[in-house]
Amino acid sequence: MPKTVYAEKVTEVEHYTDGLFRLRVKRPPGLRFRSGEFVMIGLPGAPMRAHSIASPNWDDELDFVSVKVPGGPLSERLARTMPGDTLLVGRECKGTLVNDALEPGRRLFLFATGTGVAPFASLVRDPETYDKFDEVVLTQTCRTVAELEFAERAVAAALADPLLGEFLAGRLRLFTSTTREPHVHTGRITTLMRSGALFEALAIPPIDPACDRAMICGSMAMLRDTQAILESAGFVEGTDAMPGSFVVERTFADPSRIAVLA
Ligand code: A2P
Repeated sequence: MPKTVYAEKVTEVEHYTDGLFRLRVKRPPGLRFRSGEFVMIGLPGAPMRAHSIASPNWDDELDFVSVKVPGGPLSERLARTMPGDTLLVGRECKGTLVNDALEPGRRLFLFATGTGVAPFASLVRDPETYDKFDEVVLTQTCRTVAELEFAERAVAAALADPLLGEFLAGRLRLFTSTTREPHVHTGRITTLMRSGALFEALAIPPIDPACDRAMICGSMAMLRDTQAILESAGFVEGTDAMPGSFVVERTFADPSRIAVLA
């Protein structure tokens, strides 16, 4: 009988808030993925759920960011995971947030809310992204400052990395905002795009489909509103088969889209 999932040891667990945490596990030797894709993960005796791989595809371990859902049959147990525990990892990786689905461009904008930042933490650490785009702007908006910590640390570590840092210096920028607590920037990303405050803060021209590209990952409402702004500016959604100027990941906002991947 073919093995349907990998069983790997958890190597690290980091908690950012009461409910938000990161798990790091050994990478199954046979697992292949493109940066930005997701895979099913689970625990023995609990259902498997799709999670973006937050680490780049050259890494020999896998990072996952997750949120504890009260009463959730997997997430409450995942949140209690300790190094040495076994994590089940599906064999098939999928997703729309891949470089292959975008035409090359000057600047790649990655718009995330909440844990939607996970696939982008993978892409911003993949040198292939910088072959295709001159600059990358990663935005994350959360309710609170504590929820921004994962992305802030991932970007800081990438920039400080002796090999990767040299490559990313001056080409990767992180813009964060909060909506329910004071922070350097406040407001929904859609509000900051419409007002132009995002582009002013970064001292760059407004996003332009002629030369810029975008990826979106967040709640269903955020996807809908950000997509509407991009489409009204002339952006066209891309796919693997027909690359375009933006892509959206709807799997997490609408779990009925998940085919069984385990
Ligand atoms: P807000 O606090 O104004 O609702 P959530 O934790 O509910 O997924 O939200 C994550 C972030 O996404 C919050 O900062 C939230 O702002 C923001 N958000 C919620 N809905 C939208 C939307 N339609 N467009 C843009 N941002 C949104």
